[in-house]
Amino acid sequence: MNNSMPTTDVVYQPAEDSYLLQEYVKEYAFGRVLDMGTGSGIQALTALKRTNVKEVVAVDIDEEAVRRLQQGIKEQRLRKIKVIKSDLFDRVEGHFNLIIFNPPYLPQDEGIEDQAIYGGKKGWEVIGRFLQEVSAHLFADGKVLLLFSSLTHRDKVDERLSYHLLDFELLGQKKLSFEELFVYVVVKSGVLRELEAKGIEKVNYLTHGKRGNVFTGILDKNKLRKTHLSTNRHSYLHNIVKVAIKVQRPESEAPLDEEAKWLVMVNEKGIGPRLLFSGKGYVVYEFVEGEYLVTWIQNQSKETIRKVLDNLLKQCFALDILGINKEEMHHPVKHIIIDKNHHSVMLDFERCYKTDNPKNVTQFIDFICRLRPELQKKEFSFTVEELRGAAGRYKKERSIPSFEEVRALLG
Ligand SMILES: Nc1ncnc2c1ncn2[C@@H]1O[C@H](COP(=O)(O)OP(=O)(O)O)[C@@H](O)[C@H]1O
Ligand SMILES: [Mg+2]
Repeated sequence: MNNSMPTTDVVYQPAEDSYLLQEYVKEYAFGRVLDMGTGSGIQALTALKRTNVKEVVAVDIDEEAVRRLQQGIKEQRLRKIKVIKSDLFDRVEGHFNLIIFNPPYLPQDEGIEDQAIYGGKKGWEVIGRFLQEVSAHLFADGKVLLLFSSLTHRDKVDERLSYHLLDFELLGQKKLSFEELFVYVVVKSGVLRELEAKGIEKVNYLTHGKRGNVFTGILDKNKLRKTHLSTNRHSYLHNIVKVAIKVQRPESEAPLDEEAKWLVMVNEKGIGPRLLFSGKGYVVYEFVEGEYLVTWIQNQSKETIRKVLDNLLKQCFALDILGINKEEMHHPVKHIIIDKNHHSVMLDFERCYKTDNPKNVTQFIDFICRLRPELQKKEFSFTVEELRGAAGRYKKERSIPSFEEVRALLG
């Protein structure tokens, strides 16, 4: 079989990068293979030659490349290979054992448009788009061979991979005159495989907190087998579609395992994001779509704000009664989210502890006192002295009457 199809220079021609990648394709190709951005078809045809390859799907966004490759395949009467015109995974179906990607990876040159070469303004953008979807098309133990250049910014590629909980290893590199080429083998991380086995898809980095990296994911309820959750909890989880996944950061010393334990306890009282499940080094819970309290306050009426603050005070009181101290309640700037139905959800139960002297209500009053300039604009009339006085009495004697006194001041 001849590797090079009859092509003109319209279609991206194999060069150093292709030959470097080809060495690893020979080694890694098996089962179902996808060649993304196939161009001349060099990788797809290399994979096709391996005896343990069952089927090859070659994809290109370029009509001419697809047509030429299809023609070549027909002329050579090749079987087990299919060519599809598709923008990345748009028209790709099913799962693969190996996905090959030699992307357009050079940063865009002013005024020149060639989608076979340029990977977006910064070079790694097409890789970024590819990584968003690749896991959905990869078997749990599948692999990706990814080629890119130093011009693409290796640290950006590494970051993008970690954004999707993908693990990677450098297989090979090659210095050329103006750049260096890298070949990565990419696999699903253990956490990603566990999440997917439980029906979570489209895992994507959101932000990081003090201890964890927070990702979002979409829950496919058909795949969420009941055995993963107690039936009792399962009943109220049926509305959750978007989930948050907190994954322990390698550099963080505090283990994450605690958070699930606390969430079970506070969820009983309707507090905190609802826990779905957890595993070693990660916790999966309801994603709360909304705004941080301090930002949210800006655009709300006094009455709406009063209700939300009152509800938060009640949650703090419930935690006090449980004897659970939630850390950082005096500065919960990034730890309270208000959703569109004005439900307030406290986040981050990692560093709770049991105590006879919980400080949730008093710390939250401290916070309200610091919010006073904002609240004054909304015509709240309490004074800091009044509120602190009531908080002091509550602290001496944690009781319903002393708590009611605090509440009344906000009204
Ligand atoms: N369930 C969630 N819904 C929406 N945003 C969340 C959720 N969980 C975490 N976040 C976001 O992630 C940030 C970090 O989460 P946090 O629980 O504080 O992690 P850490 O323990 O690392 O500090 C939060 O401040 C919030 O912006
Ligand atoms: Mg936090």
